[in-house]
Amino acid sequence: MTTSYAPRHWTSRFAFLMAAIGSAVGLGNVWRFPYLAGENGGGAFILIYALTTLAIALPILISEIMLGRMGRQSPINAMRALIAEHKTLRLWVLIGWGGTIGAFIVLSYYSVIGGWALKYIELALTGAFAGETNEIAAGQFSAFVENPYDLWIWQTLFLVLTVFIVAAGVTSGIERAVVLLMPLLFVLLAGMALYATTMPGFGDAMEFMFAFNLAKVKPDTVLAAIGQGFFSVSVSLGAMMTYGAYLDKEASIGRAAVMIAVADTMVALLAGIAIFPLVFTYGLEPSSGPGLTFITLPIAFGTIGNGILIGAVFFLLLSVAAVTSAISLLEPIVAWLEEGVKLSRKWLAPIVGAVAWVAGIGTVLSFNWWADFHPMAHFGVMEEMTIFDVLDFTTSNIIMPTVGLLMSLFAGWVLSGKVVAEALGDGVKAWFPLWRFALRYLAPLGVVSIFVANVLM
Ligand code: PHE
Repeated sequence: MTTSYAPRHWTSRFAFLMAAIGSAVGLGNVWRFPYLAGENGGGAFILIYALTTLAIALPILISEIMLGRMGRQSPINAMRALIAEHKTLRLWVLIGWGGTIGAFIVLSYYSVIGGWALKYIELALTGAFAGETNEIAAGQFSAFVENPYDLWIWQTLFLVLTVFIVAAGVTSGIERAVVLLMPLLFVLLAGMALYATTMPGFGDAMEFMFAFNLAKVKPDTVLAAIGQGFFSVSVSLGAMMTYGAYLDKEASIGRAAVMIAVADTMVALLAGIAIFPLVFTYGLEPSSGPGLTFITLPIAFGTIGNGILIGAVFFLLLSVAAVTSAISLLEPIVAWLEEGVKLSRKWLAPIVGAVAWVAGIGTVLSFNWWADFHPMAHFGVMEEMTIFDVLDFTTSNIIMPTVGLLMSLFAGWVLSGKVVAEALGDGVKAWFPLWRFALRYLAPLGVVSIFVANVLM
């Protein structure tokens, strides 16, 4: 097949793994996971998170990469190709559309939070955290988010970085960036975690993270863990599907997906190991919610020796994690346009970036001018939400579960066992029946339960 765009493929399996792990490891691991674990009682949440990720998110991840590699195009066109090949309902193209639209929405707000991470590198380096108390740190954070111009500048910078990498191409942009940035991220994180082991609060932190207390497990904990698993391993937004489309035909998808999920979980745990000892050493609150990273941690950075360096390293790590995820949100959209219009990605990436930038205005203003604007005031659960909350809620609780459900049904029920066994690339292994069982029964059940509990209750 001749295409009007440059060939898109990874030059090695290592490159694919780094790109996919780069997508999975993001704000979800370093910002969201520790605060969710903190709010949901630590150990109980972490154990349930690990189990549900294995039983639900991982099987769907395997099918997402597989569908991408079978279709070998952007999610929308890959699904069209698969529908034609297997003569099935046009409705399944919703997998492609839902994922691509979801990716766009997430990109629009993810870039705003990514901008916060960049801003905090600056704050750390200029010594702004020195001698902070809880009030000062909270004041510093609200002064920043209450200024829309500041948020815009940092969001713009974040998007420019993302666009630049995607515009340069799959091999010379994305691949080159991730093979450099991901090992850097691991080194920074390992360094932070090692340093944390020397802190007086390390013991309490480990107790908090790993002591399993059954009394702390509530239905909400399970649902929060399932939802976090989805977001964290990047399933359902077409990112993994697109990366799968660039993967060579022989690579074992099962093995790759296990590596991605394990690396993602390890990074989340290491982030907890890096963060909680600081929290406990300085007698701060582990359950302080989304502000854990941006309010609680700076207090610790302002007090410890070498706090400037350690703070800057931490926010650099957070920024790297966020950029490598954002490129995987932009790529499915750019890939789809590239297949349909006669413009190269050098133009398409900035155009999509600009549209996401404009769409991000709603998120930027959610923290200041429009903080009291509730667009869904008449829709039950969304009544009190700002635009940012609505976008986050609809993508994580509606679009992602729906696409995940459709994907598990398509790969589990529409495609025959023989077809999928062949598509996975390493013959039928012992885990194959387990995977198929998880895909056909566990995943749909798990997804429907998050949906019912979060949206309808
Ligand atoms: N997994 C990313 C994170 O943890 C977010 C993401 C979700 C990226 C879906 C791409 C697709 O931050």
